[in-house]
Amino acid sequence: MNVVMIGSGYVGLVSGACFAEFGANVTCIDVDQGKIDALNSGKIPIYEPGLDDLVARNVTAGRLGFTTAYDPAVSQADLVFIAVGTPTRRGDGHADLVYVYEAAKQIAKHLSGYTVIVDKSTVPVGTARQVDRIIREENPQADFDVASNPEFLREGAAISDFMRPDRVVLGVESERAEKLLRELYRPINLIEAPIHVTNMESAELVKYASNAFLATKISFINEISNLCEIVGADVHAVAKGMGLDGRIGRKFLHAGPGYGGSCFPKDTTALIRIAQEHGVTCRIVEATVEVNAAQKARMVKKIREALGGSEAGKTIAVLGLTFKPETDDMRDSPSLAIIPNLVDKGAVINAHDPQGVKEAKVLLPKQVNYFDDVYETVTDADVVVLMTEWNEYRGLQLKRVKELMAGNVIVDLRNIYEPAIIREHGFKYECVGRCSGLPD
Ligand SMILES: NC(=O)c1ccc[n+]([C@@H]2O[C@H](COP(=O)([O-])OP(=O)(O)OC[C@H]3O[C@@H](n4cnc5c(N)ncnc54)[C@H](O)[C@@H]3O)[C@@H](O)[C@H]2O)c1
Repeated sequence: MNVVMIGSGYVGLVSGACFAEFGANVTCIDVDQGKIDALNSGKIPIYEPGLDDLVARNVTAGRLGFTTAYDPAVSQADLVFIAVGTPTRRGDGHADLVYVYEAAKQIAKHLSGYTVIVDKSTVPVGTARQVDRIIREENPQADFDVASNPEFLREGAAISDFMRPDRVVLGVESERAEKLLRELYRPINLIEAPIHVTNMESAELVKYASNAFLATKISFINEISNLCEIVGADVHAVAKGMGLDGRIGRKFLHAGPGYGGSCFPKDTTALIRIAQEHGVTCRIVEATVEVNAAQKARMVKKIREALGGSEAGKTIAVLGLTFKPETDDMRDSPSLAIIPNLVDKGAVINAHDPQGVKEAKVLLPKQVNYFDDVYETVTDADVVVLMTEWNEYRGLQLKRVKELMAGNVIVDLRNIYEPAIIREHGFKYECVGRCSGLPD
């Protein structure tokens, strides 16, 4: 089976490499010449565990290639996946579909023989039908069907998520297209991932509804964590007690600095706009977004209070910049909302991240200092802020950290440590939803 991925980013590259691993002949196309050159010279432009080996193996086997040219790959394809970005449109919060529609136009020019065009990008309800219309207008002779196949992989665990998904959602309305898609996903089906077939609108909405629901769980537990701090409850104990109820589930009940990343912020905002456009309100999602912004602001206040009321002239060591561990993705990371506030108030920021520094340098204020070594980062700091729960921050040599720091405050925005253990080492410890009310 010949498969083309349009867009070779976090989703296109991982999906393309995984389909190749299952035996398809895959061409990943991207408009970014630098990305394609890097891939063709054996370099992986993103950090995703295991992706380098997977790509190398399938390139060597002759099943995976990279190009900027739509032709001849698209004309030879059985299935063409659109996996381009759908960022928030400036000004109005809608998903920006320019890349999707441009890809559709380019695909249309090169179609030859029956082809299924599949939306894998996260797109508002109705987009698959727009893609269908665009292709029909551009190339009235083309023999094709359009389908929707939203992607649920998580960065940092993308390969296993893709190969062992909870479900594959197919919005497909032609038997011929469904047959091809089922054939492509057959190796996944062997390990019993349910294939959920529905119409295109439902498939498109499954993706937004799922992300909005998960974001809501995060905002919910963050609000509960704020209450915990006032009443002397421990959010870990509360979340565990809730999560043991099978109807609630334990996942996504971790209090922290608010959700970020390339999906939840933009997808919650887009869902609100989609609903508004159709005259419906999504009040729970609106509240989720508001709570998330407030949580980031609370984290700034928490750091300020831990420093005695002012961050001016203080040195803050920030451990972790990416929105979560095991990725280099900085899109909408909480660090982007928190650090500029601290810099504005006169703090000196010394930052460390195992993978995110390259992108952070572009996105964070230029005054931020970057270090390769965690212990150099904390040297002379008044406070250490644990921003992302990378494994290497979970087992810090606390005695050494204490000796190197100028101050003695740790603000743990991910609740990595047990408060009692940190305090035993002589630190003043602040975390999220499990500290106040306990003796310092
Ligand atoms: N990143 C995730 O964890 C994730 C998970 C599930 C779904 N999604 C969705 O998948 C889509 C892609 O996300 P991503 O994170 O991979 O984005 P990305 O920005 O990493 O990659 C998109 C790529 O598309 C390329 N591109 C843009 N226009 C193009 C065109 N006309 N032809 C060829 N290439 C083009 C860009 O150069 C870029 O390399 C989005 O809709 C996103 O919401 C992302």
